[in-house]
Amino acid sequence: MRQRVLVASNRGPVSYELGPDGTLAGRRGGGGLIAGMTSGLAAVVAQAEVTWICAALSDGDRIAAHRPEAAPADGQVRVRMLDISPETFDRAYNQVANSILWFTHHLLFDTPNQPQFGREFHLDWAAYVAYNQAFADALADEAAGPGDRIRVLVQDYHLSLVPRLLREKLGGGDGDLGIAHFSHTPWAPADYYRLLPREVGQALLDGILAANHVGFHARCWADAFLDCCEAILGARVTRAAGGDGDATARVMHRGHVTEVAVHPLGVDVPALQARARADDVRAHVGALGQAAGGRKLIVRIDRTELSKNIVRGLAAYRELLATRPQWHGQVVHLAFAYPSRSALPQYRAYTDQMALIARQITEEFGTPEWNPLVLEVKDDYPRSLAACALADVLLVNPIRDGMNLVAQEGPVLSERGCALVLSREAGAAATLGEHALLVNPYDVSETAEALHQALAMTDAERRERSAALAATAAAWPPARWLGDQLASLDG
Ligand code: G6P
Repeated sequence: MRQRVLVASNRGPVSYELGPDGTLAGRRGGGGLIAGMTSGLAAVVAQAEVTWICAALSDGDRIAAHRPEAAPADGQVRVRMLDISPETFDRAYNQVANSILWFTHHLLFDTPNQPQFGREFHLDWAAYVAYNQAFADALADEAAGPGDRIRVLVQDYHLSLVPRLLREKLGGGDGDLGIAHFSHTPWAPADYYRLLPREVGQALLDGILAANHVGFHARCWADAFLDCCEAILGARVTRAAGGDGDATARVMHRGHVTEVAVHPLGVDVPALQARARADDVRAHVGALGQAAGGRKLIVRIDRTELSKNIVRGLAAYRELLATRPQWHGQVVHLAFAYPSRSALPQYRAYTDQMALIARQITEEFGTPEWNPLVLEVKDDYPRSLAACALADVLLVNPIRDGMNLVAQEGPVLSERGCALVLSREAGAAATLGEHALLVNPYDVSETAEALHQALAMTDAERRERSAALAATAAAWPPARWLGDQLASLDG
């Protein structure tokens, strides 16, 4: 029996730009989901045919979607892009997925004003349903083929309805079909999730529960999901015993049992280290090292994303400089943020806030000999890897984060060992917490104090902690993350 693996995610592994001569140039998609899935699939393509279904995001993608020969092949993975109408896509992606679901799971609403579920939202929601249906239809089309063993891997909050819609589309005729849904984000506590209109909250849970296997990066997010299944759907939940990350819980809903499990995603260490040895990264290592002039480096690397808590991180650095003058002239903070979701006004405003506080810090503490802070809003992957290689302290302080890759990549790339100041609200805190300095992301003073401790740490302790962090990141390679999910569908 042939095994086929179908992956479904909003953003795909490749995106196309249309050249003036009508040719399409492909570029790899960004973000942790893509990196983890691409690396995880490398081990799968030897045994299974893999097709990755994603939305067409750019004009080039929309053309590629209709020119199967033009494309979209990424290594041995076949890519199928869905040309969903721009209005439907905008409502589903920007309004529902990014403005409502992302905000819900990351606790980002300014609740005196937001959210407001009125008539406009109901149009957005109808588009979200249509967008999910387009994915379910494409998956059903791909799943056709008698006798095959089909494994479907549905990714993230954009596609919560897909497992249910796919089963409905296939009727009873779904043969050997196993569906897994994986959330790369946190999951909201039940009391916060209840902000969603009742039918919406129920539909999202009901959609995901049509999968056989549901995965999260950390136990706390899986537990919150189970709480919502009980509180919002009245589903019967059997919790996993013990605190072991691999333990599996079960949800009984509409006569179907769904497994809920934890699959942390770490780093493909050999691939990352090989990338970091390339000339472009080495050139940045040289330039950044020279600019630092022997001072200690506090590094952060994020998307310009509200949940990443960059403004409070900068406030903590300001407080460090204000309360610990011994670091004046001795430290430089490199804050590299790459642009993200600029279609949303809140993201543009947040980027402005970051720039404002950065200017204030430079004006307050900078001298002709010392620039205390470099904030750059630009996507420069080789430079980010170089900054990780040089960091003495890595600051990762999200309000909430499904996992967080930078917290893991930093120690893996670090040349002298780096101390990690890590939010207790990142999924990575579950695996890395023991060797990091954990902080409450809202507590600016505590974060400033942790930065001080990290800077003051002895070289030996920093190296030891960094090695332990890197070993933990290496213990959860993407091949394991994906392999365990596929094995659960076979078990
Ligand atoms: C991050 C999150 C993923 C999410 C992705 C979407 O990588 O960890 O859970 O799917 O962002 O980002 P996008 O830029 O496609 O909106």
